[in-house]
Amino acid sequence: ASYDMGGHDTYMHKEIHEQADAVDRVLRGRIDDRFSTVHLGGLNLDAREARQIRRVKILGCGTSYHAGMIGAQMIEELARIPADAEPASEFRYRNAVVDPDTLYVAVSQSGETYDVLAAVQELKRKGARVLGVVNVVGSAIAREADGGVYVHAGPEVCVVSTKCFTNTTVAFALLALHLGRTRDLSVRDGKRIIEGLRRLPEQITEILKQEEEIKALAEEYAAARSMLFIGRVRGYPVAREASLKLKEVSYIHAEAYPASELKHGPLALIEPALPTVAIVPDDDLLEKNRAAMEEIKARSGKILAVAHQDQEKADQTIVVPKNEDELDPILMGIPLQLLAYHTALALGRDIDKPRNLAKSVTVE
Ligand code: AGP
Repeated sequence: ASYDMGGHDTYMHKEIHEQADAVDRVLRGRIDDRFSTVHLGGLNLDAREARQIRRVKILGCGTSYHAGMIGAQMIEELARIPADAEPASEFRYRNAVVDPDTLYVAVSQSGETYDVLAAVQELKRKGARVLGVVNVVGSAIAREADGGVYVHAGPEVCVVSTKCFTNTTVAFALLALHLGRTRDLSVRDGKRIIEGLRRLPEQITEILKQEEEIKALAEEYAAARSMLFIGRVRGYPVAREASLKLKEVSYIHAEAYPASELKHGPLALIEPALPTVAIVPDDDLLEKNRAAMEEIKARSGKILAVAHQDQEKADQTIVVPKNEDELDPILMGIPLQLLAYHTALALGRDIDKPRNLAKSVTVE
């Protein structure tokens, strides 16, 4: 595919900068202020069916799996349905129990990833209900699913997914809000989430204005051989995705870990040569995250925090605008897309087509 570069040197840069518009698109026409909920026309799930769901299982690969991890947390928090995400390939090969009261959700940018498609087909064969959270309209997974939510990120050309990740997390927020409002989520909380969703495009624009500062940080971190990304609960999938972004596009080794697990092993790695990126939302785990940063500092580790206010335990902080706690993960990875991008640029990498990777993996 070849689309207009719009003055950007790479598709990745263009797509990062399209995110405010893309989020605007996934929200458009879906918000219902009268009932503080959202309408998702393609869901094919009535209120009675929505109330009968006992579990949600989200399946995807790579970045889509990470977006699914965030989605699972949102569904569990807002709809109070037990939910989790799993790589589609793992699910498919472990002979998983298919349960009729579980809602399965397949996530995919391309809608053509073979492992996800095969998981959907196996689920359908066993009589399960499967929804798609898909970007490409009319793609194989979209057609195979019983219904779903289109992500409306627009065409994504760079092999490294950015805007589709962000839009997928917003699509999950819509699904979580919808399920929540057919179950026990209050009108007040529905309103609160809707107001938060409406703030997202402007907040994304705010984050992207920090590009010059982030570029300077990236030039510093480009010398690292390896980086550690940490977060807890809402911050953890953000750490996972940021670590994948850095690996894919810069070829710097990166590992993501729950901050709570540091003391069970990874602390042994900490030294000045291993920088840590800490995702530190201003939520009820802030103090715990500060303690984790202190542990790292005590071992002379260098820390870059992504937070809602300057973190004195960190060497540097990228400050992002605060949204509702449940929606914070949508925003916190965005500066780290820029960090990965500028690190790769500093190292002269082939940004839109990293070595060994394809945009969609349509074979086993
Ligand atoms: C994203 O940066 C990756 N290149 C990759 O992990 C991708 O997310 C994965 O292959 C899934 O693709 P899909 O969303 O098109 O199914």
